[in-house]
Amino acid sequence: MPDALLDIPEIASVGIIGAGQMGNGIAHVCSLAGLPVAMVDISPAALDKALATIARNMERQIGRKLITPEQRDAALGLITTSTDYASFGGTDFVIEAATEKEAVKHEVFKALVPHLKPSAMVASNTSSISITRLGAGTDRPEKFIGMHFMNPVPIMKLVEIIRGIATDEPTFRAVDALAKRLGKQTATSEDFPAFIVNRILVPMINEAVYALYEGVGDIRSIDTAMRLGANHPMGPLELADFIGLDTCLSIMQVLYDGLSDSKYRPCPLLVKYVEAGWYGRKTGRGFYDYSQDPPVPTR
Ligand code: NAI
Repeated sequence: MPDALLDIPEIASVGIIGAGQMGNGIAHVCSLAGLPVAMVDISPAALDKALATIARNMERQIGRKLITPEQRDAALGLITTSTDYASFGGTDFVIEAATEKEAVKHEVFKALVPHLKPSAMVASNTSSISITRLGAGTDRPEKFIGMHFMNPVPIMKLVEIIRGIATDEPTFRAVDALAKRLGKQTATSEDFPAFIVNRILVPMINEAVYALYEGVGDIRSIDTAMRLGANHPMGPLELADFIGLDTCLSIMQVLYDGLSDSKYRPCPLLVKYVEAGWYGRKTGRGFYDYSQDPPVPTR
């Protein structure tokens, strides 16, 4: 339908749920684009850490002459934090970036909906979970969409946009326009488990963990092989630590459950690392030990 016939809602303010590595990155790029940002997390410590991370990352951008100190100050002045969804009262658009567990996300949306104005649109930054199912758990499936940023958000150019079966065209157009306003390029995916990027990327990571588990190579050999042999900027195990092993395992579980194919079986070694609480960079240990500089392989 031509844009002139569509009433595309304007997004003039943004709410973010979850102040982890993705939530803080989304707050970073939205505030630099001049949008007021309200960020909510259950953990006050996560909110404090997010603000410190955003300030540090903006400082780096100043060092690289990508932004000015004035732009940094203006952007930081647009971010507010809270543990209460009531702070989303007037917000046009809320992006959920909480832990990659479907039950957590359903709880979040149940608690969020009573605080939204009727016209507000809602997105999930989920890496893998059905947008149709998440949207159906809200009072506004037609205004619900997948907006999947890449990590680290300020640097990565792509936003994957996923339409649920009920998502309407104005919501799609508004969110696509927002991504472009943030300086991103978009790719559109149908709503299938893990969409496009993680349908291809995370089974590759899982295969690298199998290669380690079966003794095909050690951690350094596997990462060096893929960095220099396939020209990947990071090795797959290093990348898994960067994404978060808990998130990688959740994505594999969504693929395995959703596509019922044994090729998506999560590697038992990945399961064991997550059970140990070794989630990668964010906990200080995964396939590498980040208490050392430079990080050293753990096996
Ligand atoms: P993270 O573990 O760094 O942060 C998750 C945050 O959610 C934590 O601060 C936690 O306190 C908060 N949280 C948990 N339950 C909550 C609740 N009920 N209400 C409010 N906040 C809550 O995780 P990360 O990596 O930021 O991932 C967040 C989402 O983004 C997940 O859906 C993940 O799949 C997705 N994603 C992750 C990418 C990555 O590379 N890590 C890339 C793209 C998407």
